[in-house]
Amino acid sequence: MDNEWYKRMSFYQIWIRSFKDGNGDGIGDLYGVYDKLEYIRSLGVDGIWFSPIYPSPNADFGYDISDYKDIHPDYGTLEQFKKVLDKAHALGLKVIMDLVVNHTSDEHKWFKESRKGKDNPYSDYYIWRDKPNNWDSLFEGKAWEYDEERGQYYLHLFAKKQPDLNMDNPKVREEVKSIMRFWLDMGVDGFREDVINFISKKEGLPNGIPFVPAVNGMPFYKDGPHIHEYMAEFRKVCEEYDCFQVGEGPMTTVRSAMKYLTGPTKSLDMMFSFDHMMADCLYTEYVHRPFKLYKYKRALSKWQYALQGKAWNALYIENHDHPRIISRYGSERYRRESGTMLAVSFLFLQGTPFIYQGQEIGMSNIRLRSIDDYEDVSSKENFHKYHLKDSLERRLKRIHISSRDSARTPVQWDSSAYAGFSKKKPWFFVNPNYTAVNVAAEEKDPDSILNFYRKCLNLRKNSRTLIYGSYREYFPKDPEVYIYERAMGNIRYLIICSFVKHKVFMLVPKKYNGMKMELVLDNYPDIRSGQVETVKIGSCLLKPYEARVYRFHV
Ligand code: GLC
Ligand code: CA
Repeated sequence: MDNEWYKRMSFYQIWIRSFKDGNGDGIGDLYGVYDKLEYIRSLGVDGIWFSPIYPSPNADFGYDISDYKDIHPDYGTLEQFKKVLDKAHALGLKVIMDLVVNHTSDEHKWFKESRKGKDNPYSDYYIWRDKPNNWDSLFEGKAWEYDEERGQYYLHLFAKKQPDLNMDNPKVREEVKSIMRFWLDMGVDGFREDVINFISKKEGLPNGIPFVPAVNGMPFYKDGPHIHEYMAEFRKVCEEYDCFQVGEGPMTTVRSAMKYLTGPTKSLDMMFSFDHMMADCLYTEYVHRPFKLYKYKRALSKWQYALQGKAWNALYIENHDHPRIISRYGSERYRRESGTMLAVSFLFLQGTPFIYQGQEIGMSNIRLRSIDDYEDVSSKENFHKYHLKDSLERRLKRIHISSRDSARTPVQWDSSAYAGFSKKKPWFFVNPNYTAVNVAAEEKDPDSILNFYRKCLNLRKNSRTLIYGSYREYFPKDPEVYIYERAMGNIRYLIICSFVKHKVFMLVPKKYNGMKMELVLDNYPDIRSGQVETVKIGSCLLKPYEARVYRFHV
């Protein structure tokens, strides 16, 4: 067991535009964050991850950066950021920034220079070709866009306004290191590294697999040929500062993740994997299916078993890229029950939990009336890509299920106008359920999702077994209940989560039959936690979406 600080932590993710408006212009900002730091701390988290807060034309809401060393004027100034940072530190919160270096905005100075021509000093900062290959972009049509000024095509794996950087150019890598140092010198504690497994492209950019939409070029840019060299360079910078690095790894497999997480190529402390986010879909927004619990369990267990004793997981069930989890894996009708149960399903796994703004109060998906009301570039594109023979209603319904915008509505602080997010009409729609679902109401209710998250995080923080203990899953094929165990020394925890609306018999592994166990947490308020029970197979029914955590000595 090692004692890296991040293993004992949990993080809160801020997507600032919708977090809290502090200066009354309808847009979330650093003034709002400053005022809410005590609230964040009160959840029991130990750190904040800021989705990008840099200047950006917002083609992809901050993930298209036009200046890496400044703050977007909508959100404040560098001085204000420094105030937030100092206050966060004073409260015992670490702060990590989003490092988005697969691409910039096309409005970044480097790109504006690069497109001027081949003699420009920034000419090779991007990937230019006379003839495009067949790759699709993940967000908007083909991955190549013709630029009149330069008379060549540039590569963009994401939106057109997000040209890919040429990481093979050593100058570009120096820029990345200089960005890292800029923020580390200011005092930030680490980075969340955006689509980091895509930054090295195969030489010659060969054509991708024919007839595979969207991801056809992926074999040539995911975990590309020089990725580990480049990652080692960035790791070195981090080591100068004892900084923390979590990478986003779209489509990553355990096998490829291990190279980033262990051994001589270790370059990240943990990685966000996606398998468990595909228990009701394929690549979140493309293909939808009913939620299948066994897929969720299988994905979680795969990563838990593989990393155990070798590497460390990043745990999450929501972020700014996925619709709200209650609307997907839970039930809006059983919002409180399923929201709390889903918390239990991931917070006690081995790894560092990340909680996304609004998740802690059980925010759910928004359903807007027209595709024109949506803001997200990938939702708009998907809407137009969906089978055109489908009716508008059907296509819109798919957007309701899948859009990233459901995670991007303003945080619901109270039941006043605009959910207390702002005094002015916010930049984006507020979910109409804010009169019932909001922080103020949940603060007052001891049994709210909010207070349940606090209980869970507190329990995790105070138990070495729940942090470091080994993981084991029971009854993996059961389609209704998820049961796992965490064990260390003579302390064990048994975690039981029902994923269904009807009552089901609580499954107990045979070896625990008849044992006395202490119920330390239950998401049904009338159930007495702290009580010692003799647990018998077939003796107890779980209520809809009930979750239980038992502790016992062996
Ligand atoms: C990551 C981000 C996502 C963004 C994409 C392109 O997946 O989380 O929001 O759109 O990268 O930067
Ligand atoms: Ca504002």
